[in-house]
Amino acid sequence: MTSSIKSDIKSPRLAQTGKARIEWAAREMPVLKLIKARFEKERLLAGVRLAACLHVTAETANLMEVLKAGGAEVVLCASNPLSTQDDVAAALVRYTGVSVYAIRGEDRKTYYRHLSQALSIKPQITMDDGADLVSLLHGAKQHLSKYIWGSSEETTTGVIRLRALEAKKLLKFPVVAVNDSQTKHFFDNRYGTGQSTIDGILRATNTLIAGKTFVVAGYGWCGKGLAMRAKGLGASIIVTEVDPVKALEAKMDGFEVMPMLDAAKRADIVVTVTGDINVLDGQHFKAMKDGCIVANSGHFNVEINLPALKKLSKAVQTVKPGVEVYEMRDGRKFYVLAEGRLVNLAAAEGHPATVMDMSFANQALAAVFLVRNHGKLEKKVYTIEKELDEEVASLKLKSLGIKIDVLTPRQKKYLSSWDEGT
Ligand code: ADE
Repeated sequence: MTSSIKSDIKSPRLAQTGKARIEWAAREMPVLKLIKARFEKERLLAGVRLAACLHVTAETANLMEVLKAGGAEVVLCASNPLSTQDDVAAALVRYTGVSVYAIRGEDRKTYYRHLSQALSIKPQITMDDGADLVSLLHGAKQHLSKYIWGSSEETTTGVIRLRALEAKKLLKFPVVAVNDSQTKHFFDNRYGTGQSTIDGILRATNTLIAGKTFVVAGYGWCGKGLAMRAKGLGASIIVTEVDPVKALEAKMDGFEVMPMLDAAKRADIVVTVTGDINVLDGQHFKAMKDGCIVANSGHFNVEINLPALKKLSKAVQTVKPGVEVYEMRDGRKFYVLAEGRLVNLAAAEGHPATVMDMSFANQALAAVFLVRNHGKLEKKVYTIEKELDEEVASLKLKSLGIKIDVLTPRQKKYLSSWDEGT
């Protein structure tokens, strides 16, 4: 079947492999499957124009199928230039009828052109992973914001940007912080990032984690997951933090905690997962041991100050795909993975489908929330209702064959009372 769907992808010939990859992911996305059946029946998004800026992966493709099943017109662009699975992009165009603008390795100019192309359908709903569409809709493309009913956001970094807009009273439409759903960040950020970051490091380097000193910068949900998994593989963990509570938590979880300048001197591997800029900076590279492997699993490629590292280097060379060696003037060598971009998506395939199942169930429900409440919402950041979060968890438990206890009427009454003590 040749496609008349508008797109800019690497090659339509990759569609068949992409289809197989999407079906493989679908095996572990039972919650999304249930939601898809409901969307098909109830056409909850009929006629809605929806633009999504997400990592173009097999898991995302399953979400796109759900949105299409709900009746939406869907366009997808990448939320990172290095995370696109080109075969999946091709399959989405050919088999699902989604317009896709994404090519793995696209340069900055193409990346932004693709975002603009996604917005050219004048979407009523947008979905972001990192708030790039929302950011454009508040900047160069603000004339399109009048069409927007609402937007949803996948990741911590994006929610931080949205809350900054909200705090300055600049937010032009309601947004749903999908990241803040418990069934998102408890699982995707913690177990997803924990595993997929290690996966990216291993695929790029095949290094042994056991016995290494592994520095985790940032002890949010992603950092917690990463530290837990690296420990499980036998590394000694050092956590760096700026938040005293999180630092204390890391200490009580059994990890060493210290400033990055001290950690850098001992590190064999450093991974940044903070959401902030210049977490690894010139001063840290000056202190770092020869041979250190450096990677980032935070949303943007700003956490490792690569320009500063380049300045300190006499040569930069590609060792193999996803690994660049920076040679300092004194002969020390540091290995930077995936150009400092999300190592889990650029060097591996991102989070496993089973966690994306819940994240994207929340995305699908957020779209319905925005459509159902069109015109009734304020220009603020919303979190998905607790009941929906619990529904996603219940569906996931059911799919795993797990039953749990239910409160007896007596227990319910006890929990809503204030006067029953010992
Ligand atoms: N973010 C992290 N992992 C992902 C995946 N597999 N698909 C889409 N977005 C992701």
